[in-house]
Amino acid sequence: MQDFLRSLPKAELHLHIEGSLEPELMFALAERNGIKLPYASVDEAKAAYQFDDLQGFLNLYFQGMSVLCHEQDFFDLAMDYFKRASTEGVVHIDMHFDPQAHIQRGITLDVIMSGLLRAKQEAERSLDLSVGMIMAFLRDRPAEEALDVLEQAAPYWDQLDAIGLDSAERDHPPAKFVKVFNRAKEIGLARVAHAGEEGPASYILEALDLLDVCRIDHGIRCLESDEVVERLYEQQTVLTVCPLSNVSLKVVDELNGHPLPALLDKGLNITISSDDPAYFGGGLLANHLACEKAFGWDEDAFIALNRNAITEAFVPKSRREDLL
Ligand code: ADE
Ligand code: ZN
Repeated sequence: MQDFLRSLPKAELHLHIEGSLEPELMFALAERNGIKLPYASVDEAKAAYQFDDLQGFLNLYFQGMSVLCHEQDFFDLAMDYFKRASTEGVVHIDMHFDPQAHIQRGITLDVIMSGLLRAKQEAERSLDLSVGMIMAFLRDRPAEEALDVLEQAAPYWDQLDAIGLDSAERDHPPAKFVKVFNRAKEIGLARVAHAGEEGPASYILEALDLLDVCRIDHGIRCLESDEVVERLYEQQTVLTVCPLSNVSLKVVDELNGHPLPALLDKGLNITISSDDPAYFGGGLLANHLACEKAFGWDEDAFIALNRNAITEAFVPKSRREDLL
């Protein structure tokens, strides 16, 4: 099964590129940029990756990305993950990135975009790995700031596939971002949002109704509301479920008790992703292997999940046809 899962062409629709920063690269970039890290060694950093909740993780996530300063750093970050993913049989990644987290530190949007777009081109050229670009906004920061970044990104609009909404979910409902998402729609960008990870099922409905998203990132708390499950079923809205992430952030107690089998039983449109692989115990292959162990899924189940992912991915039609 391990060989089958590695060789199965896989797509992930929910990956934060800053969350793919492995401690080894974090130390190398810290040294290159003269930045002091709060850890004495790679092992000490890894040992710190024990989280009580989403906020506990976000604190280390934002601290880790402080080593990203130059265009080359963003390129190296993304290529490091793309190469690893490619050896795991990943053929497409829809990549979230968090511009506000870097702009706040004085890094320009041009530095971020040039590094990431160069890595995307390089992955497409040398790894036969396609990459979708999701510019994500931090929901615990002001909506006006998000709108400002979206306008600043005008030179890059035609290279973006979607905007997203991430970071601390509790008390930051989708409704706060209606203006930003309306503007993205006007520009012609697709829209996705994290909802129902730590936040209530009602945030999923809000994201669908007010932000007109085509995809819900996580969404597992939909099971707390029959109305929300029905809506997701009727529309066959994609959920990007991240099993190892949910265990690491204590959204669920253990993988054996994860709602993935229940979500599939309800007939929902499920895909599997890694979210922040450097922090949550591995990439897309590790998530597949963990699901096989916990749920005993057979080859057909994994084939179906990845067909869903490839069908829904931000990928040109001709490549989609090749991948399916
Ligand atoms: N940003 C990076 N990972 C995230 C997650 N799991 N939830 C919300 N925001 C995030
Ligand atoms: Zn996420």
